[in-house]
Amino acid sequence: MPFVRLRHLRKNAGVRDLVSETGLAVSGLIMPYFVCEGKNTKERIDSLPGIYRLSIDNLIKDVKEAKNLGIKTVLIFGVSKDKDSRATPAYRKDGIVQKAVTQIKKDIGDIAVITDVCLCGYTTHGHCGIVVSPAAGRRPPDKFIIDNDYTLEILAKIALSHAKAGADFVAPSAMMDGQVKAIRDILDMNGFSCTKILGYSAKYASSFYGPFREALGSRPEFGDRKTYQMDYRNTDEALLEVGQDIKEGADIVMVKPALAYLDIISRVKQNFNIPLAAFNVSGEYSLVKEGAKKGIVNERDIILEILTAIKRAGADLIITYHAKEVAKWLRQ
Ligand code: PBG
Ligand code: ZN
Repeated sequence: MPFVRLRHLRKNAGVRDLVSETGLAVSGLIMPYFVCEGKNTKERIDSLPGIYRLSIDNLIKDVKEAKNLGIKTVLIFGVSKDKDSRATPAYRKDGIVQKAVTQIKKDIGDIAVITDVCLCGYTTHGHCGIVVSPAAGRRPPDKFIIDNDYTLEILAKIALSHAKAGADFVAPSAMMDGQVKAIRDILDMNGFSCTKILGYSAKYASSFYGPFREALGSRPEFGDRKTYQMDYRNTDEALLEVGQDIKEGADIVMVKPALAYLDIISRVKQNFNIPLAAFNVSGEYSLVKEGAKKGIVNERDIILEILTAIKRAGADLIITYHAKEVAKWLRQ
């Protein structure tokens, strides 16, 4: 029986590097940011250690730092105290995201800006869509309806306002049916055919989003997101969602979260030839950070292992709160 002498290929670091199948590059990492109103503001987020709500001036400083480390793309989330039932603060010309994008584009060259397009950070009830039933008063947690098509109109307005501010990509994360098409249409009608769309295509209803909701103050006031985000028992459905987003005009598709969903990443990659992003979400980040702080795992080793595994599964791009620290390590 002939056999391959695999142990020889593992013998020293140089040879291991030579035959490694997966590489982690800074160019494939996207750093998420939370931007808030104010001046020289840097607010700690208890459940997201090392990540802050930054006012625009501090955001600019940090994005410059990221760029110097080789990070070429950032994802912007707006933190708004101004909220209403229809998320109108989300599409104001002088809204927080719109101002932040304008400033980044003015102050920093050669950086791609992606904006998250959703309602949940701007609605009083914290849901990603317009709640229509019951109309008013206290809503029993299991009895409310999200108006998908009304929400599409709002998402389209938000996306257009981000495009006008200069966003390179808009990234709808509301998981409404038809959201990519609604956005593609309004962008094209208004002369923004060059603005691209990153679809949060297969976004699961997940407990890994906890710290993010603290950061944004977007925890739903009643009910949960299971009526619009995906059921983690499903895989075929992820392919349907991704296929649909591609038909509707998505330029990049996404699987989210990443770690417990490597099989989904792998299947999507095998089925479609389109750039695939994975979102290494807030809960995944914070659990690792806390574990490392307690000395349960080696921080650097575990983060590199996790991100490399996400790439190995098939992700072309990774959105991760670790992006800056990893960029530093990869430089050394
Ligand atoms: C909002 C949105 C969420 C995330 C990205 N966009 C949270 C949610 O759906 O509740 C999660 C990101 C993270 O946890 O890092 N639609
Ligand atoms: Zn949302």
